Amino acid sequence: TESLTVAELAKKLYREPSEIIKKLFMLGVVATINQSLDKDAIELIASEYGVEVEETIPVDITDLESHVTDDQAADLVERPSVVTIMGHVDHGKTTLLDSIRNTKVTEGEAGGITQHIGAYQVEVSDKKITFLDTPGHAAFTTMRARGAKVTDITIIVVAADDGVMPQTVEAINHAKAAEVPIIIAVNKIDKPAANPDRVMQELTEHGLVPEAWGGDTIFVPISAKTGEGIDSLLEMILLVGEVEEYKANPKTRANGTVIEAQLDKGRGAVATLLVQNGTLRVGDPIVVGNSFGRVRAMVNDLGRRVKDAGPSTPVEITGLNEVPQAGDRFVVVEDEKTARQVGEARAQVTLQSQRNEKSRVTLDTLFEQM
Ligand code: GTP
Ligand code: MG
Repeated sequence: TESLTVAELAKKLYREPSEIIKKLFMLGVVATINQSLDKDAIELIASEYGVEVEETIPVDITDLESHVTDDQAADLVERPSVVTIMGHVDHGKTTLLDSIRNTKVTEGEAGGITQHIGAYQVEVSDKKITFLDTPGHAAFTTMRARGAKVTDITIIVVAADDGVMPQTVEAINHAKAAEVPIIIAVNKIDKPAANPDRVMQELTEHGLVPEAWGGDTIFVPISAKTGEGIDSLLEMILLVGEVEEYKANPKTRANGTVIEAQLDKGRGAVATLLVQNGTLRVGDPIVVGNSFGRVRAMVNDLGRRVKDAGPSTPVEITGLNEVPQAGDRFVVVEDEKTARQVGEARAQVTLQSQRNEKSRVTLDTLFEQM
């Protein structure tokens, strides 16, 4: 950076050029938007915004991944698997999620399900499993469209009385594209018309061959309604987790993905986050998508207030300046000032690209009319 114009510098600092011109004026320099500034002037302005000018290419602070620190192999420990449930309409996804949750979560929980936060954890033989309680397709498409990877394992529910349907195939394709292990839950086996063999047969046509037939796909016959087979299904999830050895570093600053978010009348922006690495703590300065803040309060999937949340834990947080979007990445940064800087810069970049988009659309429309 030997020299930059006022406009170029403004862009790098994510400010309006007029603001830079004003700042320069205050410092006794009268400049126009296209005027080029020397190194000293650039450094002076940059320092006004707390930015250090480096000789090398500066780090793009708006890239959230640049705020993530590398893990030492020695710090990595086992973490719960994160599981998504997908399948065709009416094949029993919601019933299965409820059944797992009811048998494993609300047991002994006075008051039962206190709150719905879009994800929950169950404990099976002293190990935890995290379920994303959003329709799998939606979670996959929005998350994947935004480059976020949240799921470790996909359960595809196929009703034994209905067989493989279009959305079953879609689910298979999603899971294959995401390169995550698939477990087939052959559901509704309590129904007289159930034909699990037909389901297995149909799935072989999509490359999913059961172990019993020499393949490597796990099939678990279940009834989400009666609860039959649910324990085997959970055991299979643990088994896959053991084989895949999902790991994370609980000692580092947290990062992860937004599962869902909304504006609450009383509490402001509320976001359900899945912590994917590190430990999230109350008070942490955080950037979430284009929003930022300090984690004010954290609530777990049972509606209880918690002070920290380790890898694969879903928590609902408050304390953000704006509502982020599902699929947004979040990172904890070193201090509140950085959180604000990065958040504001990201919002600015988005605004800018939206403006560009708008003017492009207007031009296109103009051409259409000609
Ligand atoms: P969408 O969210 O609309 O895609 O459906 P879903 O996959 O969530 O299916 P849902 O859990 O709503 O179940 C659809 C219907 O099947 C409901 O009437 C359930 O009660 C019924 N059902 C689900 N699982 C079973 C089962 O194991 N046995 C029987 N007999 N019925 C089931
Ligand atoms: Mg449903």
